[in-house]
Amino acid sequence: MIEIRRIEATDPLYRQECALRERVLLSNVGLDMASFQEAFPGIESRFEHFVAVFDHPQGERVIGCALLLSNYPEPGVGKLMQMAVDEQRQGEGIGRRLVIALEERAFGELGLQELFCHAREGVYEFYGRLGWAIDSEEFSEVGIPHRRMAIRAER
Ligand SMILES: CC(C)(COP(=O)(O)OP(=O)(O)OC[C@H]1O[C@@H](n2cnc3c(N)ncnc32)[C@H](O)[C@@H]1OP(=O)(O)O)[C@@H](O)C(=O)NCCC(=O)NCCS
Repeated sequence: MIEIRRIEATDPLYRQECALRERVLLSNVGLDMASFQEAFPGIESRFEHFVAVFDHPQGERVIGCALLLSNYPEPGVGKLMQMAVDEQRQGEGIGRRLVIALEERAFGELGLQELFCHAREGVYEFYGRLGWAIDSEEFSEVGIPHRRMAIRAER
């Protein structure tokens, strides 16, 4: 069974989340958690962490994550970052469930009006299928092409 959960950085699962981020996202662009924190100073402590947890017989395993930076860069707006699903578990709908949980939190309890992300080339369609729209030209970030994609709260 897979559960989507919001955790604090004090949760024992946070270490697994960091390991997943390093393996699936950061190592591809020559970063690790330390250099990520240097590239985005002060950001790690501001994240809300959404993780997909697999109830493995030998202990819970984090197999996906998505992070929310709310009221960034201005009040009412939030940024989705560090979207990653374990290589062995991609294509099972876990990424979709993580984004939906993050949206529910952002547009529900937090009352944000817009969410955006910097989507990597090759995953525009993933966000597009969830109703997010491209709203920028291509730009380079951490050495690879990205576009800004966004979704607004339903009125
Ligand atoms: C991109 C990623 C988060 C998607 O998570 P996932 O769990 O594999 O995606 P899901 O199974 O929830 O897919 C949801 C839908 O998007 C589609 N989709 C997922 N990844 C896609 C891709 N790269 N290109 C096109 N469509 C994609 C799926 O086919 C599915 O379509 P459906 O509406 O027909 O069901 C995951 O593949 C991943 O971690 N990739 C490597 C890291 C990365 O690139 N992160 C994004 C950084 S911006």
